[in-house]
Amino acid sequence: MDHPAYQADALIGEDIAAYLDAHQHKGLLRFITCGSVDDGKSTLIGRLLYDSKMIFEDQLAHLEADSAKHGTQGAEIDFALLVDGLAAEREQGITIDVAYRFFATARRKFIVADTPGHEQYTRNMVTGASTADLAVILVDARKGVLQQTRRHSFLVNLLGIRHVVLAVNKMDLVGYDKQVFEDIVADYAGFAREIGIDAFKAIPVSGFRGDNITAGPDGGPSANMPWYDGPALIDHLESVELANTAAQERPFRMPVQWVNRPTSDFRGFAGLISAGTVRPGDKVRVVPGGKTSTVKAISTFDGDLDEAVAGQSVTLRLADEVDCSRGDVIAAAGDPPEASDQFNATIVWMDETALKPGRGYWLKLGTQTVTATLQQPKYEIDMGSLEHLAAKTLGLNAIGVCELATDRPIAFEAYETSRQLGGFILIDKFTNATVGAGMIAFSLRRAQNVHWQPTTITRDDHAALKNQRPRVLWFTGLSGSGKSTIANEVEKRLALMNRHTFLLDGDNVRHGLNKDLGFTEADRIENIRRIGEVARLMADAGLVVLTAFISPFRAERRMVREMLPEGEFIEIFVDTPLEVAERRDVKGLYKKARSGELKNFTGIDSPYEPPENAEITVNTVDMTAAEAADYIISRIMPLK
Ligand code: ADX
Repeated sequence: MDHPAYQADALIGEDIAAYLDAHQHKGLLRFITCGSVDDGKSTLIGRLLYDSKMIFEDQLAHLEADSAKHGTQGAEIDFALLVDGLAAEREQGITIDVAYRFFATARRKFIVADTPGHEQYTRNMVTGASTADLAVILVDARKGVLQQTRRHSFLVNLLGIRHVVLAVNKMDLVGYDKQVFEDIVADYAGFAREIGIDAFKAIPVSGFRGDNITAGPDGGPSANMPWYDGPALIDHLESVELANTAAQERPFRMPVQWVNRPTSDFRGFAGLISAGTVRPGDKVRVVPGGKTSTVKAISTFDGDLDEAVAGQSVTLRLADEVDCSRGDVIAAAGDPPEASDQFNATIVWMDETALKPGRGYWLKLGTQTVTATLQQPKYEIDMGSLEHLAAKTLGLNAIGVCELATDRPIAFEAYETSRQLGGFILIDKFTNATVGAGMIAFSLRRAQNVHWQPTTITRDDHAALKNQRPRVLWFTGLSGSGKSTIANEVEKRLALMNRHTFLLDGDNVRHGLNKDLGFTEADRIENIRRIGEVARLMADAGLVVLTAFISPFRAERRMVREMLPEGEFIEIFVDTPLEVAERRDVKGLYKKARSGELKNFTGIDSPYEPPENAEITVNTVDMTAAEAADYIISRIMPLK
């Protein structure tokens, strides 16, 4: 307690840096604690911090006073008060969100992610567990293994945590009974085997009384449980193998964070080594590109190194000028990771808004960011029974298995092998919220066996032959707004000017190419994805493509925009108000929708998201279809 850096509770920013610096020579173990609402998790963590003597005297005095206020009797301190940061949590008696605590013992430093036990908070647990090497699963000795315990264990295993401690807590409340402990361990062992946890360490403890948290005064286990001859919790935490130590044994990988070019003759690739060891002279390969080179030097702030290992941040200089940028992985030349653009992955959904199959999300894996689309889940995992259920989507906290595709190949490894290159997050492109986390199981071989066929007559040749630049005129608006009518007028005018065009119309395409699709959100997304692909092929053929689809969602319209070269996608909003379209009701569909005979009708019980930045806006209230068409022509010509 003689060094300010020994302060244990909630260090932030520079404090953490200073603190970790003071303990630099020691290994770092990251762990997570999981328990149900009143398994005594906070008390246990508080006790760990306290018993490892990492709390300041004044904090302790404060705690004693606080405990008295909260009615804790006598000499016992309410350790939960030390840990439960949020006042609201204390009032509700549950812990929400993830809190990280730092502490150190003579042998190691620790970061513990304290995550809530409450059932809804899968999301928080995944956040806390994704970087942990070890999980302490807490069980109340009076209650034994609960549904929660199973859930947490399943998640812990899924997230690739290989060290599991079963802490049977509150042993003081069952008279330190050996039989109680052994029954719980046997019960848990059966379940653990079922879900693939090969080994775990069971320790009987009392967070409240301090039994078996640290070794007793004579270095042995708690005198209250002479029948237990294993290590105390802290001893165990100090002795398990660290992830970085294990990662050093694997082939070399470094995801490139940035390319460093301070002078014209120095070009370095900076990143955090995720696995293996690297030395000058080593042959390396850049993935996904595939080019090889040799490591010329390993640079750091403190000068060049002869060797660097997993867990170190370095700048590599290579002997050759290779194509390599942020997101690429520099790897052992003889044993590189794969690259692919199609995967099978387990997804944990973390957002209130359910997964939308077919929609593009940002996918971040290592230092790579790409667009990914997920298919309808193959199944969802019922967290109670662990059964596989059929699912169309995944809601908040749901876990399922999906196939997904990225817009370009990325370097990856199975999550089982590498969390850094197998784990990813999904981000909503509009809200920027993290909506999901995923773990790659394997790549789909079909991705490797299908290659883009280069053709001799290029896109530009097609366009030149037709003496025009391709365009996609994308009409969007409510049913009955006048999209098809106006698009038809525009096409007639273009034909008169000898332009090569094609009009794709909602009702028509739904009779052929898309006749398997209905009007659910997922089907509409797929409808637009296919139309987008077709429109792109037609634009590649040099045509001016006109499309008339409601295309109600911004995300898909943007997706098509991004598929095309800059400037070729022209969004035309046919801004006819709902009342007008409904009054006209050309096809009688609004009437059916109002009477409930027709479900998911746009504008009635299915949303329409108007464009925010359409290139052109027209309507059929203030102008006729012919006038709207003339206006559009005036805006798009000369198509060069
Ligand atoms: S989109 O939403 O997927 O873009 P699309 O433009 O292909 O829709 O098809 C819309 C046309 O299908 C409408 O003009 C209407 O004639 C018909 N339709 C049938 N059922 C519905 C519905 N539930 N919602 C909207 N349009 C429907």
